[in-house]
Amino acid sequence: MRRKVVAGNWKMNMTPSEAVALVKELKPNMENSDVDVIFCVPSIDIVPVVEACKGTKISVGAENMYYEEKGAYTGEVSPQMLVDAGVSYVIIGHSERRQYFKEDNEMVNRKIRKAIEHDIIPIICCGETLEEREAGITLTLIKKQIVSALKYVSPENAQRCIIAYEPIWAIGTGRVATTQQAQEVCCSIRGIIRDIYGTQIADAIRILYGGSVNAGNALQLFSEPDIDGGLVGGASLKPEFSKIVNYQ
Ligand code: G3P
Repeated sequence: MRRKVVAGNWKMNMTPSEAVALVKELKPNMENSDVDVIFCVPSIDIVPVVEACKGTKISVGAENMYYEEKGAYTGEVSPQMLVDAGVSYVIIGHSERRQYFKEDNEMVNRKIRKAIEHDIIPIICCGETLEEREAGITLTLIKKQIVSALKYVSPENAQRCIIAYEPIWAIGTGRVATTQQAQEVCCSIRGIIRDIYGTQIADAIRILYGGSVNAGNALQLFSEPDIDGGLVGGASLKPEFSKIVNYQ
């Protein structure tokens, strides 16, 4: 049985003091949840959020990291910095990073391997644009993203990764994919993992859906056989997030 995951992606929201206030507001309602809860937060919020989550089962994730150990990379955050600050997950390859910061499949793969090397679990994002969906190339594109993301990743390490399917047309638009659309792609992703690593790893890896997840659609989405939870943007910044975490 795969344990469900609900991860919030705060994106570029929340000052450090707002972050602490949000965690204080949310955490009492998360104590009894039986899903893995992760707050993925801006770099500057990591230290105060880790502190505010102490004594709870909530994990803290980063939204990005660089693939070098240290050195002259102005503005970047290294894996060691994340580990030292108490981070255990990192979002890699979000479509916003691919679009605005020109991250390509190769860079995504380098970041994933570096995160694994430091024992940080990557939450690997993939997804298609509306044009790509309408052109009927969704599954081909997803396959390319996944195969490339996991290049040189061993089966044991792949099993610990989390994959998030986020159709770009559903992000922040209120236009959620239908449960069938989400399940179809998540099932195909599991099939891709099976082709690369075999049934055992495919059955163990957790695959999330992201894109306008809210308290009203979480139960239906997370009940699908291949959807193991959600990566939540806008709704993770509100009290609604605790309803998503307690979706049952
Ligand atoms: O990573 C989460 C995300 O991109 C989805 O955002 O606001 O549609 O839930 P949102």
